[in-house]
Amino acid sequence: MCGIVAYVGTRQAYPFIIKGLKRLEYRGYDSSGVALIENSELNIYKKKGKVSDLEGILAGKELKANIGIGHTRWATHGEPNDRNAHPHYSNSKKLAIIHNGIIENYATLKQNLLNKGHVFQSDTDTEILIHFIEDIQKETGEPLEAAVRIALKEIVGAYAIVVLSVENPTQLIAARKGSPLVIGIGENEFFFASDATPIIEYTKDVVYLDDYEVAVVRDGKLTIQNLDNLETVPYIQKLEMELEAIEKGGYDHFMIKEIFEQPRSIADSMRGRLRAEDAHLQLGGLEAYLDKLAETERIVIVACGTSWHAGLVAEYLFEELARINVEVEYASEFRYRNPVIGENDIVIAISQSGETADTLAAIELAKSKGAIIFGVCNVVGSSIARATHAGAYTHAGPEIGVASTKAFTAQVTVLTLMAIATARRKGAIQEETYGHLLTELECIPSKVTQVFENATRIKEIAFIFTYARNFIYLGRGLNFPVALEGALKLKEISYIHAEGYPAAEMKHGPIALIDEDMPVVFLATKDSSYEKIVSNIQEVKARKGRVIAIITEGDTLIPPMVDFVIEVPATHEILTPLLSVIPLQLLSYYVAVMRGRNVDQPRNLAKSVTVE
Ligand code: F6R
Repeated sequence: MCGIVAYVGTRQAYPFIIKGLKRLEYRGYDSSGVALIENSELNIYKKKGKVSDLEGILAGKELKANIGIGHTRWATHGEPNDRNAHPHYSNSKKLAIIHNGIIENYATLKQNLLNKGHVFQSDTDTEILIHFIEDIQKETGEPLEAAVRIALKEIVGAYAIVVLSVENPTQLIAARKGSPLVIGIGENEFFFASDATPIIEYTKDVVYLDDYEVAVVRDGKLTIQNLDNLETVPYIQKLEMELEAIEKGGYDHFMIKEIFEQPRSIADSMRGRLRAEDAHLQLGGLEAYLDKLAETERIVIVACGTSWHAGLVAEYLFEELARINVEVEYASEFRYRNPVIGENDIVIAISQSGETADTLAAIELAKSKGAIIFGVCNVVGSSIARATHAGAYTHAGPEIGVASTKAFTAQVTVLTLMAIATARRKGAIQEETYGHLLTELECIPSKVTQVFENATRIKEIAFIFTYARNFIYLGRGLNFPVALEGALKLKEISYIHAEGYPAAEMKHGPIALIDEDMPVVFLATKDSSYEKIVSNIQEVKARKGRVIAIITEGDTLIPPMVDFVIEVPATHEILTPLLSVIPLQLLSYYVAVMRGRNVDQPRNLAKSVTVE
């Protein structure tokens, strides 16, 4: 949540900052701002709305500065308006700050500062932090970086910050705890950002700041200390991402680009790990822990949103293939209970961003109780990836559309590989089934491409239901989490109310909603619950519901019963979600576009939820 970007060096700072803010806009888009030191003056420009609104008010201005900070906001404290947009000034207006995170003890700090005569311009917690830093600087006479360190020791909450001082136009001070921050290292220049996407165009050498670290760039030199002023040597990594991965590449939206990227992202998530021809399956990061996985009696999966749906799919996979008891928990619930968890349990944390605050907190809790934690993350070097004992990255590439699509199928792919590897190590899977699954997995990318052949048909269906007020999604077994995911996708980008249910649960309540105006999407592929789902379809049709059925290619029984069908190729039952989710992603995309919604940046949402 919130994107931050900063620059110090020899080039013009503003073009980098504004472009960087656009790249980070998926993290928050209710207001944005920049602060620049122009001719020894600290100037702040901010605007409610999109980054393009900020760009609009700055168009034609000569913004000459070699140092600056910028921010795109997802509001936590204070409504989205110009006043609350970042950057914020200190009391003397000599310091400016950008912040991603949340300061939980801001009220006490604010009261102390008010008592000392500080005047605040906004309702944000961030402004209090910069006033607090300045106050410490004044009272102790310490240099700015020391004041930052002292202030951060008092802070309860999460932060990634960059501080700018008009008194030192070659210096930026940055720090993090719980919110990500990457520093790009160029020649005599430094780029700061919440993720690597704004930086990639300029340099591939980056340092991921760790929690409780403070980075100081001054006169072209980077130093990193912890909050106790102990210096650490910056660990410079090479970015593997390519620029084209973060651009729309001719598509109207990132979401549709990412949907269509799935054959590649699924293949990338299997690359080097799976080779059906010689029955090879190996997940490097997990190898050392595979015996533990095979021996465990319980796996607890923690995740949020779409990643939680991938966790539900994994529950079926581990239970079915490896015969291990699995519990899937909302990270936000798990962390505030007193969960029964201990050394004998294995926790799998799933997260695209690797920054979700609740998932991170659930990991820390489980770790403190002695559990072993595996991560399934997409963002390399992210907080969750680093907080886990071991893990397997999903190689979906950067996901920029706020609604998760290719990350979900990559998660399911990796979790499938994990479940199969565990089952084999445990001796719970027959060699024939094992070989068949590997062969089928290798075919999934081309089968996803086959599903795309139905895109025009799906668009037609979307047109018919563009103005539906509600939708129900029903599935059984492995298709139940897919039903949940289909409903979530539709509601988050089209704002249509949608619910997902296990199909048999319909009779216990939701059936009362069925009438001729209610579209019901059935996940009705040919699997072990096929006959049951056919009965559920009939129950809905008997009440005049309008049924859209996702069926297996060649099915002749269902089409005459329902209003619309969308075919997916046949596959092994446990791999079905990787195919059946695709039409649902397309359906929600087309409905949202037809309703004129901002598909990539739906209202109120942010891509990475770094506050609880
Ligand atoms: C929905 C969506 C969210 C995320 C959730 C968890 O399309 O993207 O529900 O899945 O916020 O995020 P990660 O996976 O980054 O932990």
